[in-house]
Parts: sequence; structure tokens; C-alpha cells
Amino acid sequence: MSPSKPRSNHVPVMLGETMEALAVQPGGRYVDCTVGGGGHALEILERSFPGGQLLGMDADPEAIKAAQKKLEAHRDSVLLVNDNFVNLQVNCIKYDFFPVHGILFDLGLSSMQLNGSGRGFSFQHDAPLDMRFNPGQEVTAADIVNTSPEAELARLIRTYGEERRHRQIARLVVRERPITSTLHLARIVEKAVGRRTGKIHPATQTFQALRIAVNLELENLELALKQAIELLGFEGRLVVISYHSLEDRIVKRFMQQEARGCICPPATPVCVCGHKPRLKLIRRHVIMPSGDEVRANPRSRSAKLRVAERLLPQEDCLASEELEILWAETKARAWRRPALLRKLQMVFAMA
Ligand SMILES: C[S@@+](CC[C@H](N)C(=O)[O-])C[C@H]1O[C@@H](n2cnc3c(N)ncnc32)[C@H](O)[C@@H]1O
Repeated sequence: MSPSKPRSNHVPVMLGETMEALAVQPGGRYVDCTVGGGGHALEILERSFPGGQLLGMDADPEAIKAAQKKLEAHRDSVLLVNDNFVNLQVNCIKYDFFPVHGILFDLGLSSMQLNGSGRGFSFQHDAPLDMRFNPGQEVTAADIVNTSPEAELARLIRTYGEERRHRQIARLVVRERPITSTLHLARIVEKAVGRRTGKIHPATQTFQALRIAVNLELENLELALKQAIELLGFEGRLVVISYHSLEDRIVKRFMQQEARGCICPPATPVCVCGHKPRLKLIRRHVIMPSGDEVRANPRSRSAKLRVAERLLPQEDCLASEELEILWAETKARAWRRPALLRKLQMVFAMA
């Protein structure tokens, strides 16, 4: 029997779908790049029991503390690291944690960070305008709001918030500076764009833009995805849950690009790129939460899950270093799935 689950106030999104996408198996080795309150991590540990291992990362030291508590019963199978996932590869190498069977990114914020954490992520609670996942980082949202030139502020709100009224907001922000609290900023945005008409608060997109800028979220995601592919064992799964279109676009493009062979421009008569597909899309379309889940956990409403699998190289494109990795993985019995082992045997028989 595996140890039992304690309670947490963050409800993991699309839990069943995520486990299915990761194809969690007993004895598997997994990385949760955004361990948060440990909800997904706990389920991974439960399902990979016995013998499963998990490396959990989070940029927020408070999240690591919460995860430590939640995963206490599995402490011998978990390694928690307080670091940004932009350092994914460094950490996996440092802790000799590769190749892995699955890597999960559940992006954005946890309920613990949103609900009155005093970290400035939400306009529902008054707090200093901070928004750093990692309080050790230098630049805060207040720094950006109070020192950026108006044009730069407008660009940032347009690009990262996809906010149509970016110019009005930036103009008023600059006029009203200094702005130090979340409610102060929310009121200014409301004044600039008018009162709320629908369900979405008018400051939602501006807050999103600032959080993305403070934490370099999009840049870090792009860098981390590239590292993830290198750490996955063959037929390992890459699963990403995103919460807004900017993130989802990056994930979609990355997976599609890595699933393609030649990526030369269409007019190129003969392939010169030599690009080989490294991923297979497990589902061509995004997976979204069910209506029941959205009703029970409204925070899940914007979630989009994408999943891809690291390809086993075809025998005609096996490079010698890939052969070595395959051989090492087979010897280390990194894989338990009989179908994969059969494939590996075929590959070796042909090599
Ligand atoms: C949606 S929550 C994860 C919740 C978690 N899956 C659970 O079930 O409890 C997202 C987490 O990712 C963390 N995070 C966001 N960007 C990060 C990054 N670049 N590096 C590391 N952690 C990050 C946040 O601090 C937050 O704790």
C-alpha cells in the first residue's frame, strides 16, 4: 500500500488527464517543474509506487515548503529543489536525475500565491506590488510600473496582456506614479479603461502582463522546453498545462516544430536543415477540463493541456550517441513497458 494523502488548498487541475498524459508507471522517474502545493506530485508518487522517483522544482520557496509538507509520506522518493525551471537541465544533471519517463509543467500561479499571500499577484487583495515568484529576485512589479517609460509600459501591457487599451492604461499609470499597491494599480486601470462589464475584472490583463514581465515567464518557458526534450528518455512524455494563449502558443509551436521532419522554408528545393522529428504528438488538439471540473474549480477554466512523447529514433537516423543512450537505458532497465523493450530489441538487432 502506498502512503495516504494529506489535504492542501490548491486543487490540482486536470489531475486524471495529467496522469494519463504522463503515462505514469510504477518505478518511473518524473520531474515536476512547477511542484507548487504538490497536488500533481503526490498523485505521480502514488501512481509510480513502488520504486517511483520525483524531482520537484519551484521558484517560490513557500511552494517548496508546502510541497515538503504534502509529500512528507514519500520523502524517500522525492527531491525538492527551490529553483527556476530555466535551470531544469542543470538540476537534473547535478542530481543525476535523467533520463526521465515524464516531465510536467503546470504553469502560472497556485491558489496559495493568489489567495492573500501578500505577494501582490492578485487585485482582489491589497498588497505591495511585488509579483516575484522568487523573492530573492531583484526586479519587482513596482519597479517596472514606476520606472518604465510610458511607451515601454504600453508595449509590455499590449504584448504580455494582449490588452487593447494598453496606451490609455500606460498614460494614466505614468501620470499617477508612484504606484506601490495592487489595489492602487487596479483602480488606475479601472479608471483608464472603464468599469467592469463582463465577468473579467478590467485589471486582469494588466496584472498578467506585469507578472509575465517580472518573472520572464515566456523566455524561461521556451528555454526550459528545449532542455526538457534532452532529459526525456525515449518514449518519455512531456506534459504542459498552460493558462493563457501566450504560453499555449509557445507550447503548441514547440511541440509541432519538434514533431516535424524538415523545417526548411517551403520554397527550398532540397532539404538543407537536416531536422529530424524528436517528438510525437500524443493528442493533436489541446485537452481541456470537463464542465464538472470547471464548475467545481473555476480556476481551471482557462487550462489547456498538451502532451507529446519523445521519439524512439528510426533505425535509419540512429546516430552513434543515440545508440549509446538507448543501450544505457536498456541496461539500466529504465523502461518497463514491454512494447518499448521489444522495439529496443528490434533497433539493436538492426544496428
Ligand atoms: C499552478 S502552480 C502548480 C501547482 C501544482 N501542480 C500543484 O498541483 O500543487 C504553478 C507553480 O509554478 C511555479 N512557477 C511558475 N513559474 C516557474 C518557473 N519559471 N520556475 C519554477 N517554478 C515556477 C509557481 O511558483 C507555482 O508554485
